[in-house]
Amino acid sequence: MADEKNQFTHYDAINWNKVIDPIDKATWEKLTEQFWLDTRIPISNDLKDWRGLGQTEHRLYDHVFGGLTMLDTLQSQDGMFSLLKSAVTPHERAVLNNIEFMESVHAKSYSSIFETLDTPAEIDEIFDWASKNEQLQYKANKINALYHDPNPLKRKVASVFLETFLFYSGFYTPLYFVGHNKMANVAEIIKLIIRDESVHGTYIGYKFQVAFQQLSEKEQQELTTWAYDLLYDLYDNEENYTHQLYDDIGWFDDVMVFLRYNGNKALMNLGLEPMFADGAEDVNPVVMNGISTSTANHDFFSQVGNGYRLGEVEDLSADDYQVGGSKQAGLDSDKES
Ligand SMILES: [Fe+2]
Ligand SMILES: [Fe+2]
Repeated sequence: MADEKNQFTHYDAINWNKVIDPIDKATWEKLTEQFWLDTRIPISNDLKDWRGLGQTEHRLYDHVFGGLTMLDTLQSQDGMFSLLKSAVTPHERAVLNNIEFMESVHAKSYSSIFETLDTPAEIDEIFDWASKNEQLQYKANKINALYHDPNPLKRKVASVFLETFLFYSGFYTPLYFVGHNKMANVAEIIKLIIRDESVHGTYIGYKFQVAFQQLSEKEQQELTTWAYDLLYDLYDNEENYTHQLYDDIGWFDDVMVFLRYNGNKALMNLGLEPMFADGAEDVNPVVMNGISTSTANHDFFSQVGNGYRLGEVEDLSADDYQVGGSKQAGLDSDKES
């Protein structure tokens, strides 16, 4: 980056042989090793399953994916850009550039799914629904406003709450169905997205913790209270959103357990204490099974199989995210293969 005072005479080239924070390099390697594209997944192999589902299930899939498209659009257009402005190392900027691009891949994936499963009129209805849904607009605008907040730590909290909490009301549907052996290729895309979001939430949470430790005790207390209030606010909105999406199919209570479980995960990514009583053992085991981010091994080039061929990726462990000597508790180890 150009030095503000000397911007016409001095610019530093990024040197990956002098990495300031090894977490940046480890995260870059993990994210690039798990790179994928929606166009490699044979979504049309799910058409038989899709035709076997009823109108209620179709609406549910369409609307949860409409909501997820909105959140990934927000991440790709405003979220990572807002975090880039407060990156402390050039390698962190590189990682955020990678994340920003993958958010565009995520957002586009849902359009590939819609194109395969829905008619043009149904696709129009999905985007119309998303643009008018009150709860969806509330959370997107709430998070987007925070992305324009001058406090970089609030921007990080907003991003982690989106990555590790807000996505999960939508993820529940494909995970539930794949747990019942339905719509496996669509679920493969969702699992690849979840695997990315897991790294994003952990990494940005780690960067939050590093900055948080520089604050005074009073500032830390204020920010912590603010973060819990924000999560409560988002949770209230999510409760209404979940009613709308899941009341018809009768899954409201189960989805809320899953949301509370992921709300705790989001807090732990930030190094904060969980606030809900729900643990992994309370979540519908069919969905927990589906959330395992292991993907079937497939031939990348011939697109044979119902998924994606991936490089050998070693998962980051909690030890990789040690901040100030204390282990980072929020690493989504149970979401990893
Ligand atoms: Fe995403
Ligand atoms: Fe993300």
